[in-house]
Amino acid sequence: MSQSSLQTSSETSPLHVAIIMDGNGRWAKKRFLPRTAGHKKGADAVRRAIKASVELGVTHLTLFGFSSENWKRPEDEVSTLMGLLRHYLAHEVKRLNEENVRIRFIGDRSKLSDDIIKAIEQAETLTADNTTLCLTIALSYGGRDEITQAVKRISQKVSEGNLGIDEISEETVSSSLFTADLPDPDLLIRTSGEQRISNFLLWQIAYAEFVFLDVLWPDFDKTHLESALKELSSRDRRYGMISG
Ligand code: IPE
Ligand code: IPE
Ligand code: MG
Repeated sequence: MSQSSLQTSSETSPLHVAIIMDGNGRWAKKRFLPRTAGHKKGADAVRRAIKASVELGVTHLTLFGFSSENWKRPEDEVSTLMGLLRHYLAHEVKRLNEENVRIRFIGDRSKLSDDIIKAIEQAETLTADNTTLCLTIALSYGGRDEITQAVKRISQKVSEGNLGIDEISEETVSSSLFTADLPDPDLLIRTSGEQRISNFLLWQIAYAEFVFLDVLWPDFDKTHLESALKELSSRDRRYGMISG
């Protein structure tokens, strides 16, 4: 699929926002609630973020939902998160489809349960032609894992004689990632006050602008997205060149 098919019909230039949705556990802890209560509230913030993105002209929204490292959390937390994901897929996909949102998933699907794999495939098929917003949810996703898988795919082509080593370019790598048909993020937001990447979109954020917000993810709303976009518009993105 070409990149242009993922862009909205009315937009000429994409605006891609990626978010590391962090701080659910701390939100719950502050209220003497179990961490799972924070994850539940976090799902409401996902809905707000999607709505706000549409309203503010974001064309691509990529959300870090569950990392490859998050499998190492206690089993009951992982199963609660998977339960919330099931619930989200069962209840939100229809509504997102009606709102013309395209949904896709990136990450290592083989670790997810069969019913979840089926639900995400159905969501992708149902919403494939939608154009208002391209929503990508990273699940069981790790940037290093993604690059490792890409290296394997490229090596396979070389060993089969279908690609010469000198033909390998940055484009070869980009197009071998899960995000092959997505533009690179313009803005990377992380909530919760932490200032790290935690293995998210390592290749793709080469020239993204970073905004770290002190808000915990369950409290995230349109005002936070608005202020991050305002911050983005004030940055001078030089891409290694000099100011024009
Ligand atoms: C983000 O919140 C959600 C996931 C990583 C699944 P956390 O669960 O990491 O919350 P904190 O960082 O412990 O507060
Ligand atoms: C990153 O948050 C993953 C998601 C938001 C899904 P973590 O909470 O897992 O990251 P660390 O452990 O603080 O680096
Ligand atoms: Mg965290």
